[in-house]
Amino acid sequence: MAGTLTFTMIKPDAVSKNYTGAILQQICEAGFRIVAMKQLHLSAAKAGEFYAVHKERPFYGELVEFMSSGHIVAAILEKENAVESFRKLIGATNPANAEEGTIRKRFAESLGKNAIHGSDSDENAAIEGNFFFSGLERF
Ligand code: CMP
Repeated sequence: MAGTLTFTMIKPDAVSKNYTGAILQQICEAGFRIVAMKQLHLSAAKAGEFYAVHKERPFYGELVEFMSSGHIVAAILEKENAVESFRKLIGATNPANAEEGTIRKRFAESLGKNAIHGSDSDENAAIEGNFFFSGLERF
C-alpha cells in the first residue's frame, strides 16, 4: 500500500525569488498537510550528503553548489498516496517538460534550478525526512 508521507525542499532559486508562500499555498490547496517544516541554509557538505545517490552523475558538483547557494525550505507532507500525488503536483524534473499548472511549470527556470524537490519513493521519503527532522519536530 502506498504511504501517506513525502518529503520536499523548496530550492534556493524559488526561495530567493520569494515564491515560498505561493508554493506552500499550492501544496496546501492540493490537500497536503504540513507535518514538519523549516527554512535553513545547507552547507556544501550537507547538500552533498543529501544528494549522495547522484555522486557519480556529471551534474553532481553543480547540484551541490546550487543547493548550498542560498536558503531552502524543507518539509514533510502528509496525504494519501503522498509520493505519487506530490510528484504529479510538482511536474516533470525539467520544467520545459512539466505540465501546465504544475509547481515547476509555474516557478522553475531550468533543469538545475527547478524550484522544488519531491521524494521518488516511500523509502526515500522516510530517509530524506529523517535527514532533516527529529521526532520532536513533527506534528
Ligand atoms: P531533484 O528532484 O531535486 O533531484 C536531483 C536533481 O538533480 C534534480 O531535481 C535536478 O534539479 C538536478 N538535475 C537532474 N539532471 C540534471 C542535469 N542534467 N543538470 C543539472 N541538474 C540536474
